[in-house]
Amino acid sequence: MSTKGRGSWTLSYDDAGNGRALLFVHGWPLDRTIWLGQLGGLAIHARCIVPDLRGFGGSPGDDAGSATIDGYADDLVHLLDALAIPRAVVCGLSMGGYVALSLLGRHPSRVDGLILADTRAGADSAEQRATRERLIAFVQAQGIPALADQQLDKMVGSTTRASRPELCEMLRRMMAGAPPRSVVGAQRAMLVRRDWSAALASIAVPTLVVAGAEDAIIPVAEQRAMADAIPGAQWVEIPGAGHVAPFERPAAFNHAVTEFLLTLNR
Ligand code: MLT
Repeated sequence: MSTKGRGSWTLSYDDAGNGRALLFVHGWPLDRTIWLGQLGGLAIHARCIVPDLRGFGGSPGDDAGSATIDGYADDLVHLLDALAIPRAVVCGLSMGGYVALSLLGRHPSRVDGLILADTRAGADSAEQRATRERLIAFVQAQGIPALADQQLDKMVGSTTRASRPELCEMLRRMMAGAPPRSVVGAQRAMLVRRDWSAALASIAVPTLVVAGAEDAIIPVAEQRAMADAIPGAQWVEIPGAGHVAPFERPAAFNHAVTEFLLTLNR
């Protein structure tokens, strides 16, 4: 593990492998250990840069917890600068997908390709915003371990829930270790994020959209529609996986990524 940053923020990250840079962006309320299976399986194909977003895992947060999706994206560009990496394929999981889209919008010259996993392009509906406000109140009243218990069943698919108790426990602990201020800050950041729906048609980098077939947080049909709206995007649905498909079925996810990387090299 290393820490590096330039400009406003210092991030903890892993850096393994050689060749084309693949930048992994975790979701909420997670940290970079959600990508362990990718670090282990993809570093023979690419240079895997796996950071903790500001305030999560080993990366310090700010006192106010005042994150924005664009701010997370800018932190990642500072990390790429510090590592002298001009361009990367950006792979974002759920909230990490929002960050990946922001990175593309703000720093298009730094993005070689996009991998959008278990994520969506649209901004929140009024109902989703109300759910976030309730989640924030829940964290403030009950604390993070209670949030981790509550979220676990939604995060993994029914197959993982029934057959992989050790994986579920690892995920529960990952969520339970997240700092409350960062967890709430990220919810507030997601509340006001940009709506990318209308801009999907103008995405000009190669894109892979991957969804766990049992995703209970973002409907697979919505993810499929996002893929259909991005010119030339590839679509892969992973059976037996839920909202954290890369973590639940790393071999299937890594296979999809490897095939995608091959198309970039042609
Ligand atoms: C995530 O998994 O990163 C979040 O659930 C995404 C969201 O709340 O929109």
